[in-house]
Amino acid sequence: MFGPNRIQGKTVLITGASSGIGEACARALAAHGAHLILCARRQERLTALQASLEAAHGVRVQVYRLDVRDRPAVEALAADLSRNGVVPDVLVNNAGKALGLHLLHEGSVEDWEEMIDTNVKGLLYMTRAVLPLMVARDSGHVVNIGSIAGHQVYQKGAVYNATKFAVRALNEGMALDLFGTRIRVTSIDPGLVETEFSRVRFHGDVNRARAVYEGYQPLRPEDIAEIVLFVLNVPEHVNILDLVVLPTAQRSAHMVHRTPSGG
Ligand SMILES: NC(=O)c1ccc[n+]([C@@H]2O[C@H](COP(=O)([O-])OP(=O)(O)OC[C@H]3O[C@@H](n4cnc5c(N)ncnc54)[C@H](OP(=O)(O)O)[C@@H]3O)[C@@H](O)[C@H]2O)c1
Repeated sequence: MFGPNRIQGKTVLITGASSGIGEACARALAAHGAHLILCARRQERLTALQASLEAAHGVRVQVYRLDVRDRPAVEALAADLSRNGVVPDVLVNNAGKALGLHLLHEGSVEDWEEMIDTNVKGLLYMTRAVLPLMVARDSGHVVNIGSIAGHQVYQKGAVYNATKFAVRALNEGMALDLFGTRIRVTSIDPGLVETEFSRVRFHGDVNRARAVYEGYQPLRPEDIAEIVLFVLNVPEHVNILDLVVLPTAQRSAHMVHRTPSGG
């Protein structure tokens, strides 16, 4: 991180903090002195992360078992924070997934619904519940984790693409609707990051998931966490609206340079 630490003492709410990019963000932010509110469905993972971050960095970490598709649960979380006088300085809308890789006319409607409910509606529920707390005190920062898939469509990914195009529209819309406030809005749009993402996409097929990351150096979740740190740490008059972040070997949603040595 460059310059002074402006993250120290801030409270950051992260959805999908039990794995991958969300977990890496939690680790990086705690190491820079942020207090955390961590949400995901796998609470046991969050509890283990909480213990290790509190012990290592002396920060406060609250964990919530939360399914972002469950609107009453999302609203209850915001009400709980409000009751305890906690207003997140930062909301990281990270929970999300791709499910399946199919031609549209052969795709699974159940997969589509889960992607739309998580990536679009879940992000909206969280934002609708937390943003008023930020607006009331005219400060805050929303970081949406979009994707290169929100800029370019690839074959067999149309519904995931549609959800990430929606995230990009919502990011821009949020920025416009917060015109005149001091609240900042940023979308970080990664290419291929080696996380549990592909295992989830292929419904637990680990061999197929592994093949996605073979023959080149994909991004690591820590790379994205470092960029989130950077975006949060710039001075208050600076807002980074949208950042596309790709592995050097990847030049578009569908161009990845693979070699036998993987270099
Ligand atoms: N990996 C990539 O190549 C890549 C590229 C571009 C964008 N992204 C985006 O990055 C974000 C994070 O993905 P990742 O790569 O870190 O994948 P990941 O390792 O699978 O992590 C996804 C996280 O989302 C959480 N989650 C899933 N469904 C949820 C729900 N209904 N409610 C609450 N939490 C939920 C998961 O926790 P639980 O299962 O415990 O709930 C997990 O913590 C996603 O929005 C993804 O679309 C990833």
